[in-house]
Amino acid sequence: MMHDLFLAAREAMAKCYAPYSKFPVGAAIRTTDGRVFAGCNIEVASYPEGWCAETTALGHYIMGGGGEIAEIAVVAERMARITPCGGCRQRLAEFAGPDAKLYLCDDAGVVETVTIGQMLPYGFEGKILR
Ligand code: THU
Repeated sequence: MMHDLFLAAREAMAKCYAPYSKFPVGAAIRTTDGRVFAGCNIEVASYPEGWCAETTALGHYIMGGGGEIAEIAVVAERMARITPCGGCRQRLAEFAGPDAKLYLCDDAGVVETVTIGQMLPYGFEGKILR
């Protein structure tokens, strides 16, 4: 099962728009009821306006109805075992619980499995803001 989530992330990565960094990234999110939402990084000539693959995937996840996240895969063309950037850890932790699995991939498949809690220990939580 984890391999097909990797394949969804790799397929999304192929759609990246990364003419500036030339660093394609793909991400895929699977909910516990089996829906898959994928995304690629999208860059903008005004560099800070671009965004990450995980963020695109989260946008699709929200527009697809959201729900409980079971697992997430991330892959980059030029980096084996990519780990999400700090901002994306926070964004993923907004919607995925600490026990959700995060698959760190290379170009052939999953290299390491961690949890969202391991990726963002002592993260800022929004509970108090509600
Ligand atoms: N990037 C992602 O898509 N996800 C990450 O977690 C790290 C960085 C993208 C953003 C930018 O388009 C390129 O990689 C280089 O930073």
